[in-house]
Amino acid sequence: MAHIISVINNKGGTGKTTTTLNLGTALSKLGYKVLLIDFDSQSNLTTSLGVNKVENHIGKLLLNDLKSQDVLLPLDHVSLIPSTNYLLDYEYRINNEPGREYLLKEALDPIRPLYDYILVDCGPSLGTFAINSLVASDAYIVPMQAENFAFIGLDKIIQITDKVKKRMNPKIEMAGILFVRFSHRTKFSKAVIKSLLENERYKHKVFETKIRTDILLMESTAFGQNIFSYAPSSRGAEDYLNLANEFIERYGE
Ligand SMILES: Nc1ncnc2c1ncn2[C@@H]1O[C@H](COP(=O)(O)OP(=O)(O)OP(=O)(O)O)[C@@H](O)[C@H]1O
Ligand SMILES: [Mg+2]
Repeated sequence: MAHIISVINNKGGTGKTTTTLNLGTALSKLGYKVLLIDFDSQSNLTTSLGVNKVENHIGKLLLNDLKSQDVLLPLDHVSLIPSTNYLLDYEYRINNEPGREYLLKEALDPIRPLYDYILVDCGPSLGTFAINSLVASDAYIVPMQAENFAFIGLDKIIQITDKVKKRMNPKIEMAGILFVRFSHRTKFSKAVIKSLLENERYKHKVFETKIRTDILLMESTAFGQNIFSYAPSSRGAEDYLNLANEFIERYGE
């Protein structure tokens, strides 16, 4: 039965899509069956997997217009439920659905037994889609940069997930905080990590693996590839493989 993991941060450009793609691919390289879900109308995950033309997408699945087997795309390493620019219209439409927060959970229930891990790439908001993702998930990963206001963003996410946990999904846990575009050399990133490690709530939640800044990570998604195919001996590939191993150690059965 798949563990469902939300990759979430309401701030834009914090490495959610890059992490979903490359952690997901790394997990498949370790032998796990992986499904990725693009839950963002920007469709960056879909295009970074080289999928450019999409008719059947997550929006239609949520509204029961299609069944999961009609929207699932089996790709080289992982399967994908893609997104489209039209997804924004669907977010408005599902706001009128009864039980609107449970639509993703309901849609994934029948296919959960087919995978070991399902990773959901959330968009940069904490709207209805993000709540759907948290309601369906066992855990969530928060990718972020070691920067000034990181804490404020984190507190906001925790407020929302606490409400989801209390009202809708008691089992959800934070899998970890992941630093991306990380530079070990700057004093500033050291200071941010230190302050996080001094915080009771977060100190056991920071992944030891940090994803270093690597231009090849940026290039690979632009060319519709994961980092392992595009640049197998890059820092990015090394870091995401280490992350997958740490994730399994912490979180696997
Ligand atoms: N470790 C890294 N080194 C260098 N560039 C990176 C790294 N991680 C991500 N990037 C680049 O930073 C940009 C933002 O990353 P990404 O798209 O993964 O963020 P996101 O959180 O999904 O953004 P959005 O909120 O818009 O969905 C992209 O251009 C990506 O290629
Ligand atoms: Mg994204």
